[in-house]
Amino acid sequence: MPNSTVTRPQADVRFPDHIRHDHARQWIAEMVALCKPDRVHFADGSQEEYDRLCQELVDAGTFIRLNPELRPNSFLARSDPSDVARVEDRTYICSLNKADAGPTNNWMNPREMHQILDGLFDGCMKGRTMYVIPFSMGPLGSDIAHIGIEISDSAYVVVNMKIMTRMGQQVWDVLGEDGEFVPCAHTVGMPLADGQPDIPWPCNPGTKYIVHFPEERTIWSYGSGYGGNALLGKKCLALRIASVIGRDEGWMAEHMLILGVKDPQGQKTYVGAAFPSACGKTNFAMLIPPKPFLEEGWEVTTIGDDIAWIKPGPDGKLYAINPEAGYFGVAPGTSSKTNPNAMISCAKNTIFTNVALTPEGDVWWEGMDGPVPERATDWQGHDWTPDSGRKAAHPNSRFTAPADQNPAIDPEWENPKGVQIKAIMFGGRRASTVPLVYQSFNWSFGVYAGATMGSEQTAAAFGQVGEVRRDPFAMLPFIGYHMGSYYNHWLNIGRKVVDPPRIFNVNWFRKDKDGNFMWPGFGENMRVLKWVVERANGRGRATESPLGYVPHYDDLDWRGLDFSKEQFHELQAIDRDLWLHEIAGHEDLFIKLYDRMPKEFLAMRELLISNLWRSPEHWDVETAGTINS
Ligand code: GTP
Ligand code: SPV
Ligand code: MN
Repeated sequence: MPNSTVTRPQADVRFPDHIRHDHARQWIAEMVALCKPDRVHFADGSQEEYDRLCQELVDAGTFIRLNPELRPNSFLARSDPSDVARVEDRTYICSLNKADAGPTNNWMNPREMHQILDGLFDGCMKGRTMYVIPFSMGPLGSDIAHIGIEISDSAYVVVNMKIMTRMGQQVWDVLGEDGEFVPCAHTVGMPLADGQPDIPWPCNPGTKYIVHFPEERTIWSYGSGYGGNALLGKKCLALRIASVIGRDEGWMAEHMLILGVKDPQGQKTYVGAAFPSACGKTNFAMLIPPKPFLEEGWEVTTIGDDIAWIKPGPDGKLYAINPEAGYFGVAPGTSSKTNPNAMISCAKNTIFTNVALTPEGDVWWEGMDGPVPERATDWQGHDWTPDSGRKAAHPNSRFTAPADQNPAIDPEWENPKGVQIKAIMFGGRRASTVPLVYQSFNWSFGVYAGATMGSEQTAAAFGQVGEVRRDPFAMLPFIGYHMGSYYNHWLNIGRKVVDPPRIFNVNWFRKDKDGNFMWPGFGENMRVLKWVVERANGRGRATESPLGYVPHYDDLDWRGLDFSKEQFHELQAIDRDLWLHEIAGHEDLFIKLYDRMPKEFLAMRELLISNLWRSPEHWDVETAGTINS
């Protein structure tokens, strides 16, 4: 709730009758007085409104309408070149105490930050329309959903929020007169002087703030119009603020996909998987099994591709929902070969951001099927040819597509009770060191593995792409409080729940000496997933390795893939020196978090080191396995 100690001036706003929530009215009136928009529009979430706003965006030059025959009802937006990804160094957790934000988050005193934001927001919407966007994360009216109200001066945000969340008038009905909501204030940070023409992608190239006040449960975002910076229901509410609520209420908000696996006997198993940004969640969530698996009756279905809210149910088991209603997916690399379900999901009714435009009026990106176009318009609007020496689509270009267009959507995806999670997978992008798959010995070792996960940085955020950084639980940029407390929260969940999910670690990205991926990935990941599901259900053979349980070559199903035992052993090898180095690297993180580090982590670290020392220098399952079931 907004800071009640501050009384702010309120503008005289004409509210529609269906907004009966005094507190929401007050907050909106305050924001209108502060931001000074020329107009206020209450978004109703209708198709008519969506179509009208898209047309306005076309007229303003923000959207290009794609060829309706090739890409019905779809649009391309090109952002300012300075506004193409999340800005982690401009993202703040402003808890009352600095210690509660922890050393992995930027922090500023909330009072100071409010002063800065009040200054920046003062008059920030002059010449613009303020859109009031009510949205529900999670099915409308369900117990586990959380409601937010975003005010924004970006029509791009409104139309994206319509796809990504349950947005519109019905949210006010659910809120009633006194329901809880998270106030989310967003501006592109570029007010217009009288008569000044707008530009297609307004943003503030110099100043950006993505700010969370965990005690107030409010979000303020200034200066960016892009994805996770501006669609405040996603990373800001559903992860940073929700992780704080989850800590207080005993549940988890995670950067995880959720998928269902049906085996030929009809048994359904749900799996959650945390991979960092641009490390394969959307692809894994929409996986199509290889042909022999399909023929036998295996089926993989999607609950969600980015965020999971996981709560203990009345039976003491863990149940997960996807709070989102759409996909904000990475375009490059997506093709009918790698991810046919994503290609179908974005075949119509889709907003593309920063991909290339073909002369026929369709979109294109690196890695898409078919011939590379002889010429195109690149993501910055310049002429492009294959030998122009630069990428046509930005590496973090995205599609915003409705979840129900995914042919593999799970029938339970909107079930407010969620689905029972039996396995959790962690995976980073690691060119070396980390094997294709291993199962942690138990929940605690699994939490240790998640807590110490490393991954190479990607284009999803500004920063040095390719550098390995610790990204605990794929949540480094998204945790709303002290990382050490978050570790303890994970350990506590394992103590509380009945039969906690089995935890697995995967790496689709190991490379050989020549720099080629050693694992084909994508649909072939089914081979690993099948083993994971078997293990989670108490079946499936495994061998004890220094890090955890691993499959023998024969424990994976290789039908339809030519992948030799030798290749597999290389992919699964555990190299002592590399791992001692890796584990030494955990220390940096532990020192940083020392005051809230779970003590058991030190013991687990020692055990892993001693496991490595009593194993061969180059461990592989064939020569060194001690059989264990
Ligand atoms: P965010 O939306 O940023 O959270 O990303 P994400 O985790 O959903 O990643 P996504 O599935 O969009 O994949 C990102 C990139 O990794 C794409 O270019 C994919 O083509 C590529 N990728 C995904 N899965 C695999 C895989 O199994 N192997 C390889 N080599 N690449 C993959
Ligand atoms: C990510 O970066 O993890 C995304 C895209 O899913 S964004 O919405 O920008 O956070
Ligand atoms: Mn993500």
